[in-house]
Amino acid sequence: MSSSYGENIRMTVFGQSHSAAIGVVLEGIPAGKKFSSEKLSAFMTRRAPGRSPASTARKEADIPEFLSGVTANEAGEYTTCGAPLTAIIRNTNQRSGDYDSLKDLPRPGHADYTAHVKYFGAEDRAGGGHFSGRLTAPMCIAGGICLQLLEQQGIRVRARIVSIGQVTDPAPFDAPADPEKFPCVSETAGQEMLENIARARASGDSLGGVIECIAEGLPAGLGDPMFDGMENRIAGLVFGIPAVKGLEFGDGFDAAKRTGSENNDEFAVENGRIITKTNHCGGILGGITNGMPLTFRVAIKPTPSIARTQQTVNLKTLETAEISVPGRHDPCIVPRAVPCVEACAALAIYDALLGRQKELAE
Ligand SMILES: Cc1cc2nc3c(=O)[nH]c(=O)nc-3n(C[C@H](O)[C@H](O)[C@H](O)COP(=O)(O)O)c2cc1C
Repeated sequence: MSSSYGENIRMTVFGQSHSAAIGVVLEGIPAGKKFSSEKLSAFMTRRAPGRSPASTARKEADIPEFLSGVTANEAGEYTTCGAPLTAIIRNTNQRSGDYDSLKDLPRPGHADYTAHVKYFGAEDRAGGGHFSGRLTAPMCIAGGICLQLLEQQGIRVRARIVSIGQVTDPAPFDAPADPEKFPCVSETAGQEMLENIARARASGDSLGGVIECIAEGLPAGLGDPMFDGMENRIAGLVFGIPAVKGLEFGDGFDAAKRTGSENNDEFAVENGRIITKTNHCGGILGGITNGMPLTFRVAIKPTPSIARTQQTVNLKTLETAEISVPGRHDPCIVPRAVPCVEACAALAIYDALLGRQKELAE
């Protein structure tokens, strides 16, 4: 099972939803890099449950505990020391009892059935085990550090909600959302999204949506052709976020409806620098960044755990059975997935940036 990622940095995520702890080992961050614990905690809080009407009642502080790889000063600033960085979050608010009645009943939309086949019944099912959305917390520790390191080099990554169910935020790609609030630009659309989520929850159902991410300040030349392009690198991480079912770069599927003359981004020079007049390609050509903003969209499916009764099959008897998933679940995970998408983009970009810096030094 691969829960590792990276070429120049190496991130390994470990733990299960209800194990003693979840965590991350991050190797390859150069020694002497500084990041703020306060900024990292603020970032982690955006992913943590229990913050908005769209979230579960489960409260998890999700504050990382660093076991190795950094030294800390009194101002709450960490410095990497070159050794592998290890951080954990102890699991303290788990209720495995919620899952006892589901032992032989795979939940529709979850990895219960596939994990059961893959691991011959030895899988840890509680809370979704290693497949749980909770595993995005360690990804956010690693990604949150990379976000700060990128910022120090003038590269800014941010994501926001474009749509939830049928409600779309009409704001343009580069419009900023306030990350401390419900992460979309239009207040009217945001209000409508929240109302729809509340309606879905009240009817025992759930909703999905689309997240947009933009990275600005990137140099041209990051990434490699064919199988190690920026698209591949980002996709490898983004599909590690549970519930992600789609990804498009730049104008994505809309580009397929255009002619070449409509879709090509014409080159121009601005302040002595080569730019493109439009950015339909999302800042990537041949897998390599062209110096324009890198943009992509992520489709998140509706939360699979719902209170409504659905059909399943008993894995032991093969008899059909009915299931309604108990426990505390987000009726929509999209708001909490926004920082996870930022974390993935930051990890992929930081990894590619270190690779490019090595090429330039050769
Ligand atoms: C931040 C985050 C939180 C999640 N929380 C829940 C949850 O509370 N209930 C649930 O059913 N699914 C939740 N999920 C989604 C499931 O973990 C996921 O759909 C499931 O493991 C199956 O994986 P797949 O959708 O990638 O096939 C969450 C996902 C993320 C990214």
